[in-house]
Order: sequence, then structure tokens, then C-alpha cells
Amino acid sequence: LHHFVTVEDLTAEQVLSLIHRAEYYKDGGKTPTLTKPVYVTNAFFENSTRTHTSFEVAEKRLGLTDIFFDPQHSSVKKGETMYDTMLVMDALGVDLAVIRHSTNAYYESLIHPQADSHLDMGIVNAGDGSGQHPSQSMLDMMTIHEHFGHFAGLKVGIIGDITNSRVAGSNMEILNRLGASVYFSGPDYWYDHAFDKYGKFMPLDDLVSEMDVLMLLRVQHERHVRDANEAKFSAESYHEKYGINEARYNRIKKNAIIMHPGPINHDVELAGSLVEAPNCKFYEQMQNGVFMRMAMLEAVLRGRKLGGLK
Ligand code: CP
Repeated sequence: LHHFVTVEDLTAEQVLSLIHRAEYYKDGGKTPTLTKPVYVTNAFFENSTRTHTSFEVAEKRLGLTDIFFDPQHSSVKKGETMYDTMLVMDALGVDLAVIRHSTNAYYESLIHPQADSHLDMGIVNAGDGSGQHPSQSMLDMMTIHEHFGHFAGLKVGIIGDITNSRVAGSNMEILNRLGASVYFSGPDYWYDHAFDKYGKFMPLDDLVSEMDVLMLLRVQHERHVRDANEAKFSAESYHEKYGINEARYNRIKKNAIIMHPGPINHDVELAGSLVEAPNCKFYEQMQNGVFMRMAMLEAVLRGRKLGGLK
């Protein structure tokens, strides 16, 4: 791959190949030997704990050289655009940029720069607005594969603030491609009927006992600026209507898993008492994130023949 900005273009075979590579790394597999240095910067224009840190760990494990960049203390604060910032990075010899930004599809101008541009660095998308979160999606697929060994025939329920979630956007599409059946639940005002082509919307109490995988989503308050439903939001009412409480947890299938991209709003999407419950796989998701991000970065290194890799 030349860039890794979306899961839209990946075939089922490519997804499975990345999962197998990540599983190889998780099992202690050797990393490829770089014969030339590769410089990578993590440019997070939106906050992050899991994604930022696990990309950093993945880069170090692969032997990449991290170039520190913090938008809050950079010339972005003087009005420099992201495009111009990346021109600087490229000019300084940075090979890859892992970027998170609040603008949907921010990467389009970077991977298809203007005709006379000098920008030619690899872009890895660490989350764009409410668009895509490909590395989260890929680590989620790895976690499902690790637990069930297959996707065909699995029932996956995506629950919560679906319209505003970039995790949901990436996952519904890739799950369909891998042969899983997708279902949705949550407030109807945070559901868009454009998603009907990916799966069926169901009341939560009908859905919980039927699913193999329950994917909970964080309520994205920061994206509700012009949303009249935000003013009506209350944690107690959301938890009662759309959250996984102890009673709903006790009704899930014995072998079902519950996933959440994090950070979790305790007693909103999920009862705080259940965060470390046996069927909740949040910690495994985070661990898998490092190995999957290694596999994704390696795919881009090979695609661009960086570090002497073919
Ligand atoms: N899942 C996720 O993107 O978490 P962070 O915002 O902490 O990176």
C-alpha cells in the first residue's frame, strides 16, 4: 500500500493478510530488518491516548525513527495549514505521517496534492472527523478473528452514536465485506437510514441476546455542536435506554464478546462495574492495536519500498 487512509479499498483477502501478519507479531514473530532509516511523525491534531501511543510503540518495534511533532506547540498555532505543515515535514526528510484530524477526509489533499506540489510522503490515517478510523477497524477485526476464527455467519451489533462515529463508519463496511451480518441499535436520532444497506436496525433489548459481537460506541459529545439532541442528553436516561447494564449483560450469549473503541463513558454506554467483565474485550483490543498497527505500517513501508524493504 502507498498510503493507509481508509478500509474502503481493501479486499477481504488484504484484510485477512493484515490480520495474519498482526497475529504473527503478537505470537513474537521477528520484524523485518531495515537497511535504511525511516522517519515517521505522529501528527495528532485531535486528542488521543490509545491510537497515538500504540502507533508510537508499533513504530519503535519496527525500528522506525520517530520525529516528535505536537500541533499545539507548532506553527499550526500561527495559522499554518496542515498541507503546508506536511510540506515542511516532507522537506525535512520525514517519510511517513500518521495523522488524526477533525476534518472528514483531510487526507484527500495530501495524497492527491496539487500538480506542482513537492509533497510525496506516506499518509496513515489515525482518524478523520466522523469519517474513518482504519487502524481501529483493523484491530477490531483482529480481535473478532482471534475470538471466533472466522467472520462468515457472525452477527455483529453496532450500538450507540452511529452517525458521528468514525469507528462505526469503517466497521460496518468491512464487516459486510468479510461476510458478517451487521445490526444496529441506539437512539434513532443518531442513526442515518443510509446505513440500512449494511444491516438492520433493532431495539436494543431484542438485539443483545442474539449477537455474537456487541460493538459499543462512545457518545461523541464533541461532534454534537449543532445537534439539538445534545441539549436533551442525560447520562442516566441514555444508559437506561441504550446502555449495557448488568441486566442486559446477563442476557448476552455465553460466548459473545463486547467491544468498545474507548474511551468509555462509564454508566453511559456501559455500566462502570462491567468494564473488566469477562466478555468485555477492551484490553485485548488495545493490545491488538500495537500488532495491527505494526502490520499496517509495514504494508506502507513495503508499498513505498522504504527502509530497503521490498
Ligand atoms: N479508540 C481511539 O481512537 O482512542 P483514542 O482516541 O484514545 O486514540
